[in-house]
Amino acid sequence: MSVGIDIGTKTIKIVELAKSAAKFRLKASGAIGYTGLEPERLNDEKDYVPIVEALKKLFKEAKIYDKKVSISLPESQVFTRTVSFPQLTDQEISSAVKWEAEQYIPIPLSEAVMQHQVLEKRDNMNPPDVLVLLVAAQKNLVEKYVRVVSLAGLNCVGVETELLAMIRSLAPIDQTVIIADIGAKGTDLAISKNGMLIFSRSIPTAGDAFTRAVAQSLGINAVQAEQYKRTYGLSKEQLEGKVKAALDPIVKIVAEEIKKAIHFYQSEEKGESPTSLILTGGASGMPDIVPTLSKFLGMEVIIGNPFSKIEMDLKVAASLQGYYPLYAVAVGLALRGE
Ligand SMILES: Nc1ncnc2c1ncn2[C@@H]1O[C@H](COP(=O)(O)OP(=O)(O)OP(=O)(O)O)[C@@H](O)[C@H]1O
Ligand SMILES: [Mg+2]
Repeated sequence: MSVGIDIGTKTIKIVELAKSAAKFRLKASGAIGYTGLEPERLNDEKDYVPIVEALKKLFKEAKIYDKKVSISLPESQVFTRTVSFPQLTDQEISSAVKWEAEQYIPIPLSEAVMQHQVLEKRDNMNPPDVLVLLVAAQKNLVEKYVRVVSLAGLNCVGVETELLAMIRSLAPIDQTVIIADIGAKGTDLAISKNGMLIFSRSIPTAGDAFTRAVAQSLGINAVQAEQYKRTYGLSKEQLEGKVKAALDPIVKIVAEEIKKAIHFYQSEEKGESPTSLILTGGASGMPDIVPTLSKFLGMEVIIGNPFSKIEMDLKVAASLQGYYPLYAVAVGLALRGE
């Protein structure tokens, strides 16, 4: 049994998987909104209350009894980069990472938690090298997330970054793709090659910005704007295209960042062009976002299915229909299988 919790800025998502032989089965899932500060901004004891209470409630409602959970750190708060090392043994790479990390990460080592992953041995490079993914976060950030979980009576057994988790549930193992997690506060972009994270970037434009644009442009309040965004989205036919006209410029900002990420990956890292854009995150539920982005970018765009490798009852599948985009990170965390 394994439980993954994705604490977003707007909603907490939870997934419990059971493993038998090599197969995973969905046991439980749920999502809950919360108001209050997100974990990275928590300081005072009382600030922790809304989020901890929401997490407790979600656990109870989803009927999850396993207290061992894996959690993710928000991409905007962590540091991820790929570094080329000479072709050393895995052990030598581990020590090289340790000794040379200071050059690559902007956090003093005494305050950082670091992880690395060997991505590929590149024999065709001159000289041949090994591409290594380095991930670092402030210790203090990790402590805040772990504290939220322990205050809710849970035991944190795994921590990783959102994109590393998401790649596990969404990335195909035989292609290069770009994935965009469009949440509330931010959009996280990942380029994944053969199921491994090669490139990541986080931008502060997502669902909240979409709602603000609709509210300002149509002169309505945030609650109504949220509803318009969800109901009419980017559809030309609705409300004389007024909602679409408000949203288009913001969606274009996201599209431009996707273009830049692909361009950077191709020019600086000599990577091959991603075959498609996979969308996930709550805001990817916006009507007509697929054709709109596909037109802006001139590439295939699909909504990711994080449950594609997971077995579930037909009834459960039907009840989750339309909510798939919420669960990519939580499923990826539960797939760690700890
Ligand atoms: N059907 C929908 N259509 C459009 N937007 C939606 C829909 N459902 C949810 N959203 C938007 O998705 C956002 C929440 O998504 P999600 O739960 O992925 O964010 P989060 O993980 O809390 O945020 P972040 O990843 O930025 O920390 C909100 O902005 C919400 O308005
Ligand atoms: Mg999120």
